[in-house]
Amino acid sequence: MTTEAPDTDGTNEFATRLAAAYATDGPTVDIGRAMLDGVTHHDAVIQVPLAMCNRHGLIAGATGTGKTVTLQLLAEQLSAQGVPVFAADIKGDLSGLVKAAEPGSKINERVETMGLSYTPAGAPVQFWALGGQGPGVPVRAAIGGFGPDLLAKVLDANETQRSSLALVFHYADQRGLPLLDLVDLSDLLKYLISDEGKAELKSIGGLSTQTAGVLLRKMVELEQQDAELFFGEPELSIDHLMQVTPDGKGVISCLELAQVQDRPRLFSTFLMWLLASLYEDLPEAGDLDKPKLVFFFDEAHLLFNDAPKAFVEQVAQTVRLIRSKGVGVFFVTQLPDDVPDDVLAQLGTRVQHALRAYTPRDAKALKAAVSTYPRTDDYELEEVLTQLGTGEAVVTALSERGAPNPVAWTMVRPPQSQIGAVDPAEVKTMAETSTMWPIYSEEIDRDSAREMLARKMGVEPVGEEPAGDPTGEAAPAAADAGAGPSAEDLLRDSGLSADGVDLSTLPPPPDPPAAKAEKPKSTSKSKSTSKSRSKSSGSSKKKDDGNAVTDFLKSREGRATVNNVVRGIFDLLKKKR
Ligand SMILES: Nc1ncnc2c1ncn2[C@@H]1O[C@H](COP(=O)(O)OP(=O)(O)OP(=O)(O)O)[C@@H](O)[C@H]1O
Ligand SMILES: [Mg+2]
Repeated sequence: MTTEAPDTDGTNEFATRLAAAYATDGPTVDIGRAMLDGVTHHDAVIQVPLAMCNRHGLIAGATGTGKTVTLQLLAEQLSAQGVPVFAADIKGDLSGLVKAAEPGSKINERVETMGLSYTPAGAPVQFWALGGQGPGVPVRAAIGGFGPDLLAKVLDANETQRSSLALVFHYADQRGLPLLDLVDLSDLLKYLISDEGKAELKSIGGLSTQTAGVLLRKMVELEQQDAELFFGEPELSIDHLMQVTPDGKGVISCLELAQVQDRPRLFSTFLMWLLASLYEDLPEAGDLDKPKLVFFFDEAHLLFNDAPKAFVEQVAQTVRLIRSKGVGVFFVTQLPDDVPDDVLAQLGTRVQHALRAYTPRDAKALKAAVSTYPRTDDYELEEVLTQLGTGEAVVTALSERGAPNPVAWTMVRPPQSQIGAVDPAEVKTMAETSTMWPIYSEEIDRDSAREMLARKMGVEPVGEEPAGDPTGEAAPAAADAGAGPSAEDLLRDSGLSADGVDLSTLPPPPDPPAAKAEKPKSTSKSKSTSKSRSKSSGSSKKKDDGNAVTDFLKSREGRATVNNVVRGIFDLLKKKR
């Protein structure tokens, strides 16, 4: 372990120079102390002016080198100075922010080496979870709020598909049809290519059946990532991410993503919406004393891996523009080149933990990282970057004037909050007792495009009790009028064929006329389930070959049974992933 250098010749030029470069009059976020030749210099404080924290940043490094702890350190200091923070907590290890650290020998040793005074403290944290998948207050967004451009980017739609989506959104707007979830949108698409809808659409443009089919298929793919759980209402209000406690601390919003970390498309969709909403909702702020909000994306490579090009462009553009609204964005990832170049080019603060040079890609990333730092005579950067200890980093940050400060090998401070996760059961309790819980815990099931379209066509949505039907007789399903994909459609979308379903698992076919008169059963409890069911009910496009099994498959019960089998297959496929 390193110690303070005896300043024997009275010219500790390095420490004095670094301290002077990083000195600032205003409040700061303190990253650590500069090191040279294995010596940690107590007075060489490496810090970022609070006012510069909207200039974005990168925290990078190989696994286990200290990235998440650095994120935690920055987040708690921003919070302590009244700046609300949003952090995507992919592994769940940020939840420790809420608890004061219990220092052990390692922290004590670090504190001593750095010459710090150290008081453990927890920060105010609000836990969120996407559509309630994980411990946290459920977060949802209405699909209408995504808008056609954003949704087109999420779906990786081409220009024709994007403009068709724009048409559909315009139509929904004009006719007052709220688009809340994926089912609303898919039902509207199907309606607009039906005979009745086509006629209406003529007045505002055209939508080809083929394009609608592609969009519907893309939506099924998104649905397979359980996206429908977070499309809906109540929609998250941006104000609730920008809260300050009565004693002036910024609330840290931790989006607990551990349960959905294998579904990056799901959370990247949400994060993209959040960034775009922030950008749209916040007024221009100019240069502020401190940011209005700082965003941290831990494991940011998941955000960009396999992301559609349009998504990456959208992130780059939003990151570029959102700075002037007072929002800072920090990406946390293993290799700097996980983050696209046009995003990297915008970053003011860089905290680079140790890099490994095991693979050719590592070696390339190491060289690339070195080339992005300001020139330094203090270190051989390529060497230093592979030699850094855990919780040490090569830092460069912007000065108050916006110029890059010298490169500093830095011993990073220990956070005041607990390193590592809090028990998820405890996180769940904290979420359920938070002030946000009563606002967001229950999904609102208001009338939306699906129900309105079904009524317009004089039918009732399948899977829900027909309202106001005194006879108890079922109206024909919306699907029967062409408002839902058939089981065959779903099978085709899944890459399976109807022939691939083991028909021996189906119950014996009921007498077709009796099945027709039967009231549809509504067993679903949640809106999303009932809507999902409606999606899978539709008119069969299969040719009638007079076979009894085919007759059964065409009946309402037959379709429902096949749909259930298909859903079972989807679930199995999902579990396998
Ligand atoms: N600033 C620090 N102060 C004290 N301990 C630290 C510090 N930074 C890192 N550590 C120690 O190193 C461990 C690993 O750090 P961390 O979890 O931040 O790594 P990581 O780079 O995020 O890893 P991964 O890529 O696996 O997510 C921590 O659990 C902690 O014990
Ligand atoms: Mg980590």
